[in-house]
Amino acid sequence: MSALGAGAAGAIDVAEFRFISELVRDRSAIVLEPGKEYLAEARLMPLARREGLSRVGDLVTRLKREKDGPLHRRVVEAMTTNETSFFRDQAPFAALREVVLPALIEKRRQRRRLRIWSAAASTGQEAYSIAMVLAESFARELAGWDVRIIGTDLNAEVLERAREGSYSQLEVNRGLPAAMLVKYFERAGMSWRIGSALRERVEFRELNLAERWPASLELFDVIFMRNVLIYFDIPTKRTILGQVRRTLAPDGVLFLGAAETTLQLDDHFERIKVERAGCYGVRP
Ligand SMILES: C[S@@+](CC[C@H](N)C(=O)[O-])C[C@H]1O[C@@H](n2cnc3c(N)ncnc32)[C@H](O)[C@@H]1O
Repeated sequence: MSALGAGAAGAIDVAEFRFISELVRDRSAIVLEPGKEYLAEARLMPLARREGLSRVGDLVTRLKREKDGPLHRRVVEAMTTNETSFFRDQAPFAALREVVLPALIEKRRQRRRLRIWSAAASTGQEAYSIAMVLAESFARELAGWDVRIIGTDLNAEVLERAREGSYSQLEVNRGLPAAMLVKYFERAGMSWRIGSALRERVEFRELNLAERWPASLELFDVIFMRNVLIYFDIPTKRTILGQVRRTLAPDGVLFLGAAETTLQLDDHFERIKVERAGCYGVRP
């Protein structure tokens, strides 16, 4: 019998999985298709154990009994995929350095203000990679400018890590050039902590992309929204791209992940031809 069958001792059953996927979809818009039971089991078993429970099914019973509590939130957080790395995919950061920022800086010489958003920032590597691009290549040009990088995510736990800015040896080995490690990080026991100058450049906040974004959200010149739309259904992707259009400066640039596109979702966007960078602007 399959691990999902009614007889498999301890494993999540169909109704329990349905409960979890509805909860996760309601709170985050993340779609857990049938067949992802193994994922729910693997992600939620540690949480069940921390709660003193021996099965994910018992966690579901508690969730039903407690109605809306912190446990619901922790379940949703546990079901988010937080995979990220410094300078992930490289090409978007090369495009930022070589094409996008030089053009935007030229256009903003009067206002001397830049806003960059790492939406779905996870543990912060993307936002700090952007900060390093600014520090490495534009420090002189941007001296005295009002420059801010905002990182947001649904998951409060990863945001806490992002704010702390401490990374293991394994994490800094993934994508971060050694010269940048030496220049921008300091040793903190077994970890590496991003230096305060760059840490202060980035502000991390909670924001659920699937909800209506706060009216107070600033207008951004660059939005990195990478490797998150893939988890949503088509109507949610459309609603989010509609909100991006209202939050992106008319000449701003949106970066999506390598497996993501605006094609057949939102015709107001057009692809900017920068090799392998997945960047889009809004049609005039
Ligand atoms: C795979 S990570 C991508 C991190 C980074 N952008 C990158 O490309 O390396 C996806 C992130 O999206 C976040 N996420 C998922 N659903 C979300 C939602 N509805 N609103 C905001 N963030 C969400 C997850 O918590 C996770 O940290």
